[in-house]
This record gives sequence, C-alpha cells and structure tokens, in this order.
Amino acid sequence: MHVARLQPSDAKQYRELMLQAYEFATDAFTSTANERAAEPEAFWVKRIADPTGLSAALGAFDGQALVGTVALECSTKPKIRHKGLVIGMYTSPSVRGKGIGRALLDAIVSEARAREDLLVLTLTVTEGNEPAINLYRSVGFETFGIEPMAIRTSSGFKAKVHMALRLQPSETAA
Ligand SMILES: CC(C)(COP(=O)(O)OP(=O)(O)OC[C@H]1O[C@@H](n2cnc3c(N)ncnc32)[C@H](O)[C@@H]1OP(=O)(O)O)[C@@H](O)C(=O)NCCC(=O)NCCS
Repeated sequence: MHVARLQPSDAKQYRELMLQAYEFATDAFTSTANERAAEPEAFWVKRIADPTGLSAALGAFDGQALVGTVALECSTKPKIRHKGLVIGMYTSPSVRGKGIGRALLDAIVSEARAREDLLVLTLTVTEGNEPAINLYRSVGFETFGIEPMAIRTSSGFKAKVHMALRLQPSETAA
C-alpha cells in the first residue's frame, strides 16, 4: 500500500470509491450517492486537479487499486487562506483497521504543514462516528463545537462535531 497525490487519470477510480463511500457510509457524509453520481467527470477532475492549485486529493493504493482517499480544500479568499478543510476521508471496508486511514491523514497534515500560509485545519464529523473521531484525535485534532441537527439521516437528525488542528502552535490566537 502506498499513499500518493491523485492525478486526473485517477478520476474514474476516485469517483467509484467516493460513490461507494456515500452509499455505504451514508451518515458520514452530507452528500448522497445519487447527487454525486449526477456530477460530470469535470467535478471529480477538479477535486483532484484544482485549477487554483490550492486543493489536493490523496489516494491510498493497493497495487493499482484505489482503496482509500482524503482531500484538502483551501480558499483563494485572502481572509480565510490560512484555513484548510479536510474532506472526503474514506477507506474501503476490506482494508480498514490496517493503518491506511492514519497514513492518509498523516500525509494530508504533512502537505498542509508544508504550506507556510496554512495555519489551521478544520473538519466536521458526524456525532457517534467513533472510528473517525478517534482517528482525528489521534493526530491532534480537537473538538471546538457541536452543531446540532447538522445532517438528516434515515434515523433522524444528527449533530456534527467540528474539530480543528493548529498547524503552527506558535501563532497567536485571535
Ligand atoms: C474512519 C476511517 C477512515 C478509518 O480508516 P481505517 O483505515 O480503518 O483507519 P486506521 O486503521 O488507520 O485506524 C487509525 C485510528 O482510527 C481509529 N479507529 C479506526 N477504526 C476504529 C474503530 N473501529 N473503532 C474505534 N476507533 C477506530 C483508531 O484511533 C485507530 O488507531 P489505532 O489503530 O492505533 O487504535 C474508516 O473507518 C472509514 O472510511 N469510515 C467510513 C467513512 C467515514 O466515516 N469517514 C469519515 C468522514 S468525517
């Protein structure tokens, strides 16, 4: 298994993996498989090869097969350029519990730390998703808020836990 930056040529596999994620980890994501299945190929290519060069998507490969992914979304807006949003974390059920999720998260955090203007990473995770919450905590993410009724699921509304990781601890908090 190795982790690498996704390339536009990975768009088809990336789309398939994310559609699997939206279908089989429904409560973990705010998008539905149907919504995302309707997106054109350009949507997936943009997630991989953002024209601004600020966002990035990583893949975990078992040989040629894409078995996990995570992405970093950044804004071009000067006032919020210091923040990166971690999105789309998913590993295939058959490879879970083998350190692949952590390898992906470590790699995206390293990518973020390498960018001088990025000072903080944020993410949201559905309340009760202990595997993901434990994973994020294990690399230093801390909860800074809970958003009630953040997502409608088949078993009712669920909250989202908002977490952040300070990349440059010496930066003064505003
Ligand atoms: C969350 C997810 C990415 C973890 O992937 P993974 O490849 O199994 O993770 P790893 O094997 O690298 O485990 C890393 C850490 O995550 C936590 N973790 C993983 N699986 C866990 C479980 N079943 N129960 C509790 N903690 C768990 C642990 O802290 C673990 O560290 P440890 O092995 O030292 O205890 C995976 O379960 C997944 O894709 N879930 C569905 C989608 C999802 O919830 N995405 C997050 C959206 S916010």
